[in-house]
This record gives sequence, structure tokens and C-alpha cells, in this order.
Amino acid sequence: MSLKVASFFLCTLIAPNLTDEDALLPAPQNISIISTNMKHFLTWSPVTIRGETVRYSVEFQGEYEREYANESWIPICECSLITATVCNITEDISATVPYNLRVRADIGTQRSEWGTLKVFFNRITTYLTPPLMKIIADGYHLLVELEDLGPAFQFHVLYWRKGQESRIQQKMVKEISSTLHLDTMEAGTEYCVKAQTYVEAINRSSNFSEMQCVRAQGDRSTWLVTALISSASFAVVALTLPFLAWKTSKILKLEHCDLMVHVMPSEDVLRLWIQETL
Ligand SMILES: *[C@@H]1O[C@H](CO)[C@@H](O)[C@H](O)[C@H]1NC(C)=O
Ligand SMILES: *[C@@H]1O[C@H](CO)[C@@H](O)[C@H](O)[C@H]1NC(C)=O
Ligand SMILES: *[C@@H]1O[C@H](CO)[C@@H](O)[C@H](O)[C@H]1NC(C)=O
Ligand SMILES: *[C@@H]1O[C@H](CO)[C@@H](O)[C@H](O)[C@H]1NC(C)=O
Ligand SMILES: *[C@@H]1O[C@H](CO)[C@@H](O)[C@H](O)[C@H]1NC(C)=O
Repeated sequence: MSLKVASFFLCTLIAPNLTDEDALLPAPQNISIISTNMKHFLTWSPVTIRGETVRYSVEFQGEYEREYANESWIPICECSLITATVCNITEDISATVPYNLRVRADIGTQRSEWGTLKVFFNRITTYLTPPLMKIIADGYHLLVELEDLGPAFQFHVLYWRKGQESRIQQKMVKEISSTLHLDTMEAGTEYCVKAQTYVEAINRSSNFSEMQCVRAQGDRSTWLVTALISSASFAVVALTLPFLAWKTSKILKLEHCDLMVHVMPSEDVLRLWIQETL
């Protein structure tokens, strides 16, 4: 509340105080709300005046202001004299009650009447999208990664063995911590997952995401075969590696000697020979 009062005075200081007689500009039209996943934006059609930069200011009125504060309006400081035709009102819509919003145009010497929403906005109408998710089979662990939509969002995750849709298991996730462990999988079995978001503040859920399935690695017998093959190949590598290293070092030594022979200039050889004989 005190923050809002402070921002009111701040905005009032910034915005020059003109009288109603200056209302010559047309008011912004097509004022509407775009609200997805509890992020809310006010948009309007631009007011175009040739050769002028039109700026806009936005104010809101919640149920409290309407009914108990003499129908007062609260300026949105971040959207005071802006040139954009969109205002992020997410922080101002802090309760699940009907809000009214208004916007006016300003070209410095003139300002328009307020253009107001035709229908009050309630965040309960926000469009909730199915969460983005990725499921991972990490060895025999069934993991899921969910999109982080902020602290207002919980996730309802359903998972089951493919073909056993009658035995669906579920988890309610209140906080996203990178990857979520769902279950230990049986070898060679396919598991499926789907999820929806839930927002407690509006008691609403999104639709479910498309289900995604993964198969746990191998079955028991192929696992054994794989293990045998890999240990056998490890043994082969372990045995051949020292031999190869020894062989390589021998070849390198030979080349090194070769190089010495080639590199030694003939004068040096002559000098050496002279020194030896003297
Ligand atoms: C309002 O939106 C409609 C349709 O999107 C458009 O035809 C009209 O020009 C807009 N009004 C203004 C004042 O921009
Ligand atoms: C309410 O608003 C009206 C007109 O805007 C004003 O005359 C009146 O003094 C206000 N009342 C209070 C209690 O602020
Ligand atoms: C809108 O404001 C909210 C709350 O401050 C913020 O989380 C979000 O990122 C903003 N969105 C954009 C597109 O600026
Ligand atoms: C939430 O909505 C469900 C119906 O969708 C209702 O049964 C339940 O009582 C509501 N919970 C709260 C806390 O309002
Ligand atoms: C949820 O799914 C139903 C049925 O597929 C669809 O009609 C509806 O529009 C979806 N709702 C949302 C919010 O996506």
C-alpha cells in the first residue's frame, strides 16, 4: 500500500498537471487485456498525430479503490508517458477481483480523455497453457523437466506404464527444482507422462500437456549381454594399449634417430672428424 502511495506521488510529479480543456487528442481505442499464465498486459491501438511523438499513461482501479476509496485511480509508474502501446500490469493485478484500467494519450501540450476497458478484468480469466515438459530415462530413473512459470504455479504430474492406463500414479509439485524424479523403471518397459499446471490463487488448472513416453533401457538378458560385451572390449583395449604404446614409442625413437642423421650439417661432421683425429 505505502509503495503504491509513493508511486502515486512520484507519477504525479513526473506528469505535468494539465486541465480538461486541453483534451483535444483522440482517446486511445481498442483497449484490451492479454493475459497468459498469470502475466497480464494492457494493449491499445496507437493514436497517430503526424510529426508528433505520442506518449501514453495508464491507471488502474481495483475493487477497493472503486468501493472504498472514492473511485480513485492509481497510476502505473512504469507506464507513465511511455511511447509503447502495451503496459505490463502483472504486478498491479494483485488480487482476484475485477479491475478497471484506463489509458490516455499525451503529446506534451495536449492530452486526450481517458479510454477505458469495456469489461472489467479479473485475473481468474487468464489463459493457462499446458506446461512445456521433457521426460528423460536416466538409466532406470524416470525424470521430468518442467517449465518454470514462477512461484504461483504448481504442477500435477501423471505417469503410468504404457498399456496400464488404469494404474495411473500422480505427483503434485509445489516447487520446480530443475529435474523431478518420478519413479524407478522396470527394464525394457515403456512409461508415459503428462502434466498440467495449477494456480492456487485462482483455483484453476491448465489442460494437460501431450503425453510423452520413454522406454527404460534393455531387458535383463540384453543388459547382461551388453555388460559382457563391454567388459570383453575393455579387456581387449587394456591389453593392447600398452603394446601399442610400446610399439609407437619404438617407431618414434627410430624416426628421431633418422632425423638426427639428416639434420646434422656436413660441416659439423667434418669438424667433429677433424677434432677426433687431431
Ligand atoms: C481497432 O481494432 C480494429 C480491429 O483490430 C481496427 O480495424 C481499428 O482500426 C482499430 N481502431 C483504431 C482506432 O486503431
Ligand atoms: C470524492 O471525490 C469527489 C469528486 O471527485 C470529491 O468532491 C470528494 O471530496 C471526494 N471525497 C473524498 C472523501 O475524498
Ligand atoms: C511483466 O512483469 C512481470 C512481473 O514484474 C515480470 O515477471 C515479467 O517478466 C514481465 N514481462 C515482460 C514481458 O516484461
Ligand atoms: C476449487 O475449485 C473446485 C472445482 O473446480 C472446487 O471443488 C473447490 O472447492 C475449489 N477450491 C477452493 C479452495 O475454492
Ligand atoms: C482444453 O482442451 C479442450 C479440449 O481439447 C479445448 O476445447 C480447450 O480449448 C482447451 N483449453 C485451453 C485453455 O487450452
